[in-house]
Amino acid sequence: MELKVQTGDITTWKGDGIVVNLFEGAMAPDGGAGAVDKKLRGVLTKLIKRGEIKGKLGSAAMVHTFDKLPADRVCVVGLGKQGEFTLDRARQAAAAGVKALRNAGAKKIASVVHGAGSLGNLDPESAAQANAEGIILGLWQFRKYFSDNSDVKTVDEVVLLERDPSKLKVMKAGAARGEILAHATNLARDLTNEPGNAMTPTHLAQIAKEIAKKNGLEYEVIDRDKAKKLGMGAFLGVAQGSDEPPYIIILRYLGGGKKSAPGLGLIGKAITFDSGGISLKPSEGMQDMKGDMAGGAAVLAAMQAIGQLQPAINVTGIVAATENLPSGKAFKPGDILKASNGKTIEIISTDAEGRLVLADALVYATKTLKLAPVVDAATLTGAMVVALGHHRTGVFSNDKELTELLAKIGEETGEKNWAMPMDPEYAEQIKSEWADLKNSGGRPAGSIIGALFLKHFVGETAWAHLDIAGSVGGLIGANKENGYKNKFGNGTPTRTFVHLALALAGKK
Ligand code: BES
Ligand code: MN
Ligand code: ZN
Repeated sequence: MELKVQTGDITTWKGDGIVVNLFEGAMAPDGGAGAVDKKLRGVLTKLIKRGEIKGKLGSAAMVHTFDKLPADRVCVVGLGKQGEFTLDRARQAAAAGVKALRNAGAKKIASVVHGAGSLGNLDPESAAQANAEGIILGLWQFRKYFSDNSDVKTVDEVVLLERDPSKLKVMKAGAARGEILAHATNLARDLTNEPGNAMTPTHLAQIAKEIAKKNGLEYEVIDRDKAKKLGMGAFLGVAQGSDEPPYIIILRYLGGGKKSAPGLGLIGKAITFDSGGISLKPSEGMQDMKGDMAGGAAVLAAMQAIGQLQPAINVTGIVAATENLPSGKAFKPGDILKASNGKTIEIISTDAEGRLVLADALVYATKTLKLAPVVDAATLTGAMVVALGHHRTGVFSNDKELTELLAKIGEETGEKNWAMPMDPEYAEQIKSEWADLKNSGGRPAGSIIGALFLKHFVGETAWAHLDIAGSVGGLIGANKENGYKNKFGNGTPTRTFVHLALALAGKK
């Protein structure tokens, strides 16, 4: 699909469908919708009066033009209540419009820039960015494993149309940035949706290598032998049961120059399939654990976008990739592992494997590479879904500024975050009788326990842990598609990571 930004009048545009918008409760269409309404001799006004077009957020009302306009169809998307309007709602409206038209068979679509009008009042650059993101994210589909895709509907071209030529330049810049962010997010989605037999640690490393090559990044891997030398006993303990070679994959973007601070560290959990190991998971729903590499996918995807956007900062992405399988060689409950910072860990459950692979990745990031701040993303705990459901990521951090920055970024990107507590009192639950720590502390406060475990491996570094088990979508039961977010492996927190790099670089 090609995205364009052009100046022009939506009422004279020729193609399969045009998208205009309406705030909830508005009695008359304005802006693009108003102009279209005139050409349609008041049809939209009538439908609003009849209550058939309400402007509810996420709604998309389809109206046939029957030659009163050069476009075949008009899609009126709802923006929700004017007083509640946000940048993310522009993103959601953009997705709703193109998806509805695509499903109606449209190939060539034009849209107003939702939110850029006088009532939406967003700055034109951010609005164009959000619209571009919503369109590209909303149209994403994962069909590669179906043998017959002949009935699948796809869009060829979407044009963002703006009447005011003076806004064109900033809108083009915003849309270009939105394209980079959305394509990166879609890459994370592709990687997460791949089945475990295709998306092995080896394959993930190959993809990282390609991302590096295309985007001017340095690529490196730590294989089993090197991990042994580095004393990464926690990572290797998890990998022990699998015949697939594990890798710690490292991508480095040098935007701050070689001599400047080591820079931001982005760390991702990439269990390419989490069976639970010897502490085997129930078989119902186990197939979803192909997505247990979503954190790692977001790191690789964010590194692609960072390479393309070139912020003035160094960024290193570290992805701890392995399978977690039971076998005659697998690690077991009762085993004691030693992580690369010397801490010993008693294994209570081999299913609490994410914190183990992250432990060594975090030591490598903070102690060896001296990265700061360091942010990890992981589908770490089922308890996260109990705590926050699917709409917010839990943020666990030792740094107030970082927490606040992530909260702000979350509201802008729509990858919403929520600060979670990490009181030391909870740490009681992971005291071991046999070692420095144990890897599971029972059911209460499961996500906090996971975070407190990780805290042992970051030293004094400013750090945040993002538990995306719920927010990444689909990993527990049937989550629903939501606006521009698909239901399984929606790419969270790819855009958060990129925004963080941009913010720390002082670019925006
Ligand atoms: N990958 C899972 C967590 C998960 C479960 C994410 C469902 C998304 C959906 C993780 O490795 C895990 O199994 N965690 C255990 C930890 C427990 C044994 C302390 C959990 O949440 O049950
Ligand atoms: Mn597990
Ligand atoms: Zn897991």
